[in-house]
Amino acid sequence: MGTEIVSQVEAALPVSIDSERLTKRITPRADSPIEQDKPVGQRTTVEQAESVHTEQPVEETKAAGIEKPKIRRVICKLRKACRLASTNLSKYPHYLPVWDHGEKYSPWEPFTHIEHGKDADPSFKDLLIEESKLHHLTPSTGSEVTGVQLSKLSNAGKDQLALLVAQRKVVAFRDQDLADLPIQEALDFGAYFGRHHIHPTSGAPEGYPEIHLVYRNGGNGEFESFLANRNSSVAWHSDVTYEEQPPGTTFLIILDTPEVGGDTAFVNHVEAYNRLSPALKERLHGLTAVHSGFEQAEFSRSRGGVVRREPVKHSHPLVRTHPATGEKALFVNGGFTRSIDGLKNEESEYLLKFLVDHIGRGIDYQARVRWAPNTVVVWDNRVTSHSAIVDWVTGERRHLARITPQAERPYETPYVGEAK
Ligand SMILES: [Fe+2]
Repeated sequence: MGTEIVSQVEAALPVSIDSERLTKRITPRADSPIEQDKPVGQRTTVEQAESVHTEQPVEETKAAGIEKPKIRRVICKLRKACRLASTNLSKYPHYLPVWDHGEKYSPWEPFTHIEHGKDADPSFKDLLIEESKLHHLTPSTGSEVTGVQLSKLSNAGKDQLALLVAQRKVVAFRDQDLADLPIQEALDFGAYFGRHHIHPTSGAPEGYPEIHLVYRNGGNGEFESFLANRNSSVAWHSDVTYEEQPPGTTFLIILDTPEVGGDTAFVNHVEAYNRLSPALKERLHGLTAVHSGFEQAEFSRSRGGVVRREPVKHSHPLVRTHPATGEKALFVNGGFTRSIDGLKNEESEYLLKFLVDHIGRGIDYQARVRWAPNTVVVWDNRVTSHSAIVDWVTGERRHLARITPQAERPYETPYVGEAK
């Protein structure tokens, strides 16, 4: 039994949407991008793994002279031939991506972030209730929890969730109901942790631009194409660090997953920082680096994709301090960090390459999360980077929804010399 991808085209009506009207449903009007998560340039991965990633549906171009469609939808129906998803049905069709060229958002305004992990009870008694179980995936990084329903947490439990995730960097919660709740309820849950980010170039469920989708059909030669010009699918990045206030406690909800494959790997940037020599740590303090979203926007535009907000770049400290744990972490990533302020080109390039390589090869401070139905993975985007692993060839769909609360503007506390 197959599925069908049906594109529905609506008349073009320009829609201007204020960025603060985040919870209002949008009447989609616009157009149809075709975009792939392909590296742009040498270091640019454009959030290849969990971020840009939407495998936008390939569809015939409308005949010349006919007005370009303004919206592309992906809708699966039962018992029909399917050109893209050849073997599997979408369990959550209302989460399938829509790309709306009519959506335009104003630049973000700064907001005051409340760090809920800061004053959380470190006993975790409201989070890790009696019937729950927690085990660590590795000594330093990553945990898995069963027996906790995130959507039912009290505010105290949510505070403790933020702290636990800050400490462990990534935590996989099994048997969750977030995917089965109305989308707005899932967003309301996530809003506790910060202002919802809206991704500038990704598809979203119709009417819910705050949801960022990760979507691969897994069929029709998709993987051969994906790997045609790269040796590995690994593309470490932290999400949207070009924003003035990048995300903090971040949620990824599985909707459809291959039975085996499609894991997500995370790397602990606190531990990556800790491994550096005192001399290098001291030198890095006080430096800032440019994080840019321009390449991502240009890549989307070049493929006919959406750019819902004009791109920005911001300089952030190379070493940032986490507000809840006080830990220091390297804050660079191969996806968006472009250069180090104040250094000459070669100096910047070599130092950034060292730091990005150092983070990427540190398998002794990484964790790999295996997805299963009803899993929600929560990570702290301030102190980690991650990569999807594109390794399954079964034609199964991989479909995830990200809730992306923004956090504070990155800052660093003074360097404290280490005892010799
Ligand atoms: Fe990502």
